[in-house]
Amino acid sequence: MKKKVLVLTGGGDCPGLNAVIRGIVKRADQTEDWEVIGSIQSFDGVLNEPTELIELNEKLVAGIHYQGGTILGTTTKGGPLAWPVKENDGTWSFIDRSEEMIRKLKHMGVEAVISIGGDGSQRISQTLFEKGLNIIGVPKTIDNDLSSTDYTFGYQTAVQIATEAVDRLVTTAASHNRVIILEVMGRDAGWIALSSAIAGGAEICLIPEIPYDLNSILSVINKRFKDGKGHVIIVVAEGAKPLDGDALSQESDEVGNENLKLGGVASKLLKDLKAAGCNADMRETVLGHLQRGGVPIAFDRILATQFGVNAMELALEGTFGKMVAYQHPSIVAVPFLEAISKYNFVKPDSSLVHTARGIGMCLGD
Ligand code: F6P
Repeated sequence: MKKKVLVLTGGGDCPGLNAVIRGIVKRADQTEDWEVIGSIQSFDGVLNEPTELIELNEKLVAGIHYQGGTILGTTTKGGPLAWPVKENDGTWSFIDRSEEMIRKLKHMGVEAVISIGGDGSQRISQTLFEKGLNIIGVPKTIDNDLSSTDYTFGYQTAVQIATEAVDRLVTTAASHNRVIILEVMGRDAGWIALSSAIAGGAEICLIPEIPYDLNSILSVINKRFKDGKGHVIIVVAEGAKPLDGDALSQESDEVGNENLKLGGVASKLLKDLKAAGCNADMRETVLGHLQRGGVPIAFDRILATQFGVNAMELALEGTFGKMVAYQHPSIVAVPFLEAISKYNFVKPDSSLVHTARGIGMCLGD
């Protein structure tokens, strides 16, 4: 009987997930004695009755490396540690089904699990590892906010999409003499915003790591507009905050989703600038999930494939409790504990920030 490795994708989707799955399956297929099973919608496929599991073979994964999304589906809700249960009074409670799941996986003959996910997924993996599950992590997120890896796949694709948005907004802003504010994703990290602002040549970029002062923004706009003519592109990260305030967020009303929903900063900024006396025409664009969908660029396909192959090789050698990571020029394995120990913020003294300042970009301070 072949040994089984279970693969799943958790958290928000991200371009490159399918390339990881394909890498795992192709590497496993080179062995005589391993087969790959996919769990539908993260761990739900294992926990649901009946289970939702599919056999992943070379035929099934052929050509999926350039497809966006994930053929396994994913979810940001629930999971083995906080499974939602509806009570008789209509309220929801959350139960820990991890022990039950680990027993189930053992009973099914699963020898290794590869969990592809972001920060939250790696934390769940550490807990499951401590409870005895043979688990390996693969980091994914467009936000690039995981430490221990130089890049997560999906991030460069998101930067490419955001840069194309800046390029398009520049021509319309210039034609109409407008200020256009582009809000991009990234949670509490400003990687997508700062990278696309540099690549697209934005005049102003606001990131969570550098709280902004409205007066600095206003003075750049005023300098750029002479006799009512000029244009300004502002790229703002969804998590950006003013000097005297917090990032805009709302509690999620989705059952089991504990993540705060960020968003609305572009609209707030536009209103605040108006109230502060900015009389230029202003518009806002919220790029949203366009940054997460569609085909991954080549860099992300390559990184994702490297992660898939190397994660499968960790399973072959029996190394668990680790996450694959890119530390140029190598793919390495780092303990989950190290991977989740800190968040990967844009450092205000980093080369990217230095470069932005070097080309005269206003970072709001
Ligand atoms: O973490 C990836 C991400 O796209 C963030 O940049 C964004 O804040 C969040 O997910 C959006 O989540 P959802 O898809 O649940 O709205």
